[in-house]
Amino acid sequence: MRTSLIAGIFLSLSSFSVAQPQPQLNLMPMPANVQAGAGQLAINQSFSVAVAGNHDASLDSAIQRFVDQLSRQTGIPFRPKSGAAPTLQIHSDHGLQAVQKLGEDESYELTVADSGAKLTAPTTLGVLRGLATFLQLVQITPAEFAAPTVTVKDQPRFPWRGTLIDVSRHFIPIDVLKRNLDGMAAVKMNVLHWHLSDDQGFRVESKVFPKLTGMGSDGMFYTQDQIRDLIAYAHDRGIRVMPEFDIPGHSRSWFIGYPELSSGAGPYTLEGGGPGPYIDPIMDPTKESTYKFLEKFIAEMAKLFPDAYFHIGGDEVDGKQWDANPKIQAFIHAHGMKNNQDLQAYFNQRLEKIVAKNHKTMVGWDEIIHPDLPKTIVVQSWRGQASLAAAAKQGYRGLLSFGYYIDLMWPASRHYAVDPMADAAATLTPQEKSLILGGESCQWAEWVTPENIDSHIWPRNAVIAERLWSPQNVTDVASMYARMNTVSLELEFMGLTHRSARLHMLHRMAGPADITALRNLADVVEPVKDYNRWSDAKGPIDFHSPLTRMIDAVSPESDTARHFSDLVQAFVQSGYKDQAAEAQIRMWLTTWRDNDVRLQPLLGQTYLLQEDAPLSQDLSALGAAGLQALDYLDKGQTAPDSWKTQQSALIEQSKKPMADLLLMVVAPVQQLVDASSAQHN
Ligand code: ACM
Repeated sequence: MRTSLIAGIFLSLSSFSVAQPQPQLNLMPMPANVQAGAGQLAINQSFSVAVAGNHDASLDSAIQRFVDQLSRQTGIPFRPKSGAAPTLQIHSDHGLQAVQKLGEDESYELTVADSGAKLTAPTTLGVLRGLATFLQLVQITPAEFAAPTVTVKDQPRFPWRGTLIDVSRHFIPIDVLKRNLDGMAAVKMNVLHWHLSDDQGFRVESKVFPKLTGMGSDGMFYTQDQIRDLIAYAHDRGIRVMPEFDIPGHSRSWFIGYPELSSGAGPYTLEGGGPGPYIDPIMDPTKESTYKFLEKFIAEMAKLFPDAYFHIGGDEVDGKQWDANPKIQAFIHAHGMKNNQDLQAYFNQRLEKIVAKNHKTMVGWDEIIHPDLPKTIVVQSWRGQASLAAAAKQGYRGLLSFGYYIDLMWPASRHYAVDPMADAAATLTPQEKSLILGGESCQWAEWVTPENIDSHIWPRNAVIAERLWSPQNVTDVASMYARMNTVSLELEFMGLTHRSARLHMLHRMAGPADITALRNLADVVEPVKDYNRWSDAKGPIDFHSPLTRMIDAVSPESDTARHFSDLVQAFVQSGYKDQAAEAQIRMWLTTWRDNDVRLQPLLGQTYLLQEDAPLSQDLSALGAAGLQALDYLDKGQTAPDSWKTQQSALIEQSKKPMADLLLMVVAPVQQLVDASSAQHN
């Protein structure tokens, strides 16, 4: 099933793609330098690995994980023959450092010949990256599993390639984070930005301030032992773990147990959250007791998290509590400050000194930029690429997250088009450009659970990983999608559940019934984009309510709709002559036209599917409209105006979100309808 779908995508893309396709090695991120040969290295039961040079326990466990994954991908239980030459020869000069540093050498060279492969790297970090490449090279062929002969010389474009995972809005257990770390390592990402506290929950055990989790969480948090375990797991995979404790805003959860930290009177409860007075309670930066608290808290957390970077948040500080508090207003005037921004800058300066005293570098969202802060801090840009350039112009190092918010449900191509060095950054001097460290995708957790978080992150995260690792000129979108689909399979073999969870969730909705027709519908819808799910919600959102609707099950991006749209483009560009494309278009349209009859009985039987009935009807009607349009085109007739008017009404109706879902085949069907009614004009 899966293989034939991918083959279909390759065929349809290659038949009309305009850009020169890059060599079709299924690598993501694409290495800096690749030279493909003509042969291949067979991967069979006698596969074996040998090590020369540096050799330690972390390298051994990396090799064991690699062999286990290769065995899962191929289904082959390896039984190396003693005395035989190794299939893969590894050489590195140095092991992993106890604490991985920003900018450490991740380079490697991998040569695959038909007689064997060789991987060399200055450090084990490079070996990890090279092993990830080798795993992606191995593909099924007509005769066997094999890696193509190739020479790869590779190193990252940016030293900071991260994923932010918010665990406050919905708690994400350690095992789920671990499988996501495996995914990150597979695409050579090297930072987990762990967003550990927010209004909806404080998620780290503090032994100094136990009420932070005792009262500021729903009982779901990580013990310090679990944190250390996760950091060790990430370290083994060459991934740094940077904690974020978001202050002075986004900090309601601190105030349940410690209301004296806040700028308002309290008391506070850990309510479900926004939209509404959601950002409101903020920390009081005018009290010395606030800094005494933060001194002790940061000292404790700085020991727990060994990474050199410490994120203090600083975003979306809603100043209403500061405005309403006469003591805070008096403090602002007494210190000659002009406004709340000055007060936040004062807070950040005090905070930076505490962070620095604990031998950490402060990182914050772009709101923290202020001339009074030292140039050592790092600014994370989320409100636009301009803020990244502005930070660099003022001498600050920066990270780009604007454009990489994977919770916004954008297609992979839109994230892929965002480059840290483009837009406002393109005009920076080389010196200023050197301050841009890379970027991070952001998975905010308002709408994810442990069940579906993988499908919100993967496989789209892989294309952001490529943007941050590969040369800037690796931009071919058709090639990106083809490679992303292959990586998606690799990730599922690794234990991620982005493909399988969708099926489980559809089965839950359907009960014991057959889900073929339900899948046909689920395959062509996408969740509403940006923050429209928030704005469509009536009233406050309860973060403990189930996320079991169709919108929670479907992929952020529909492969079927993209494929269908590509077919329609090919058909239109051929002047309606491409018969192979037309046959496939008809196949899809017929499936959709006939789907509603198959699906309606089920939709009425389960409460989780009732809201999807109008979508199913519209899909059927679109299928019929597309088929009629093709009939007119085939006969060389112009569709009558009355028909066109009817179809336009259907199309307009189908463009509106229903059940927070978008039918993604509307635009290509509209193209066919327009073509059939315009052809003789
Ligand atoms: C943010 O999205 N408020 C950093």
